[in-house]
Amino acid sequence: MLDKNSKLYIPEHVGIIMDGNGRWAKKRALPRSVGHKFGAQNFRKITRYISKTGVKVLTLYAFSTENWKRPLDEVNALMKLFRQYLVDSLTDFREDDIKVVFIGDRSAFDPKLRELIEESEQVANDRKGMLLNIAMNYGSRDEILMAVKKLCKNVRDNGVDPDSLTVDDISSNLYTAGTPDPDLIIRTGGELRLSNFLLYQSAYSEFYSTETLWPDFHEEDFDKAIIEFNKRNRRFGGV
Ligand code: FPP
Repeated sequence: MLDKNSKLYIPEHVGIIMDGNGRWAKKRALPRSVGHKFGAQNFRKITRYISKTGVKVLTLYAFSTENWKRPLDEVNALMKLFRQYLVDSLTDFREDDIKVVFIGDRSAFDPKLRELIEESEQVANDRKGMLLNIAMNYGSRDEILMAVKKLCKNVRDNGVDPDSLTVDDISSNLYTAGTPDPDLIIRTGGELRLSNFLLYQSAYSEFYSTETLWPDFHEEDFDKAIIEFNKRNRRFGGV
């Protein structure tokens, strides 16, 4: 088990694309919603583990702006799980001093879920442990568009010179403003794509993909990703 005394370099910010719940259920001839249920249980467990390894920021992709295209019963099952696991996690995350922030457009969620989201953020506001960003109704292109609109308004209303804008101005208008860019992005379920996740922030992130399906991604699988990350030679465009 990795801990804060491990000799390995622990990335500051890790992003995880939690993929493979549906396939995990299919392999067991179970409905997809059962896969999501086990996925949500794993979300709770692995978050607590990662918070103990020294990772400072963890961003988990729970629901994308494109996931609304799924059958209504699957979307409803996911919303129900979000409600349930957010309530359950409030206690766990308090014990682990985890600060919770939701990134994405929450206006699309029903009022009860929005309330829960706000409550989870409020009770965790003063915590000093790991920052957990839960990306829900999150899409990176929408996020970049939001930042561009804010900057355009600043140019229009406050006389800002467009030529003075920098890449940092974009970063500081994203949902992740103020946090370091992800060092490592892990994707479970074997696909090799980012699927509209942290596109701007991941310019120099190391990508790690594993065939392991999300409900089966446990502590030792996270450790393997960190060991692999430690073998990478990060040059950030230099030599
Ligand atoms: C992708 O698997 C997974 C999702 C779209 C949902 C991820 C959500 C969770 C793990 C629950 C998180 C819970 C909380 C409370 C934040 P998939 O359905 O695309 O799997 P497949 O590729 O095998 O079909």
